[in-house]
Amino acid sequence: MALYSEKVMEHFRHPRNVGVIEDASGVGEVGNAKCGDIMKMYLKIEDDTVVDAKFETFGCGSAIASSSMATELIIGKPLSDVAKLTNKAVAEALDGLPAYKMHCSVLAEEAIQSALEDYYGKHPEKRPQA
Ligand code: FES
Repeated sequence: MALYSEKVMEHFRHPRNVGVIEDASGVGEVGNAKCGDIMKMYLKIEDDTVVDAKFETFGCGSAIASSSMATELIIGKPLSDVAKLTNKAVAEALDGLPAYKMHCSVLAEEAIQSALEDYYGKHPEKRPQA
């Protein structure tokens, strides 16, 4: 079996939603200290829904594919769903990642959570009550 699924290769070669949202509602930047890769996620939020998402990833192919897939999974979704997105779901949507590359999908989960936190920090009234 090939090391990377076709979906991983496809999203790596043709990543969706690369770029910056100038008037983003929330921005999150995370990094992995071990490999040095960095991911920045921009969310545009309207009516408690992610209407657009873009990313900049300075990292490995799996991190790029994970961020690309993650944006596709959250665009059009309510924040309640977006908050629950796990790195496992991102990896599954990519038809899997090698075990030692799972941390790359963790960056995508963390970048989205960090962007959500940024949004809730600016709009505390929107934060769901626990
Ligand atoms: Fe670090 Fe992929 S090797 S994010």
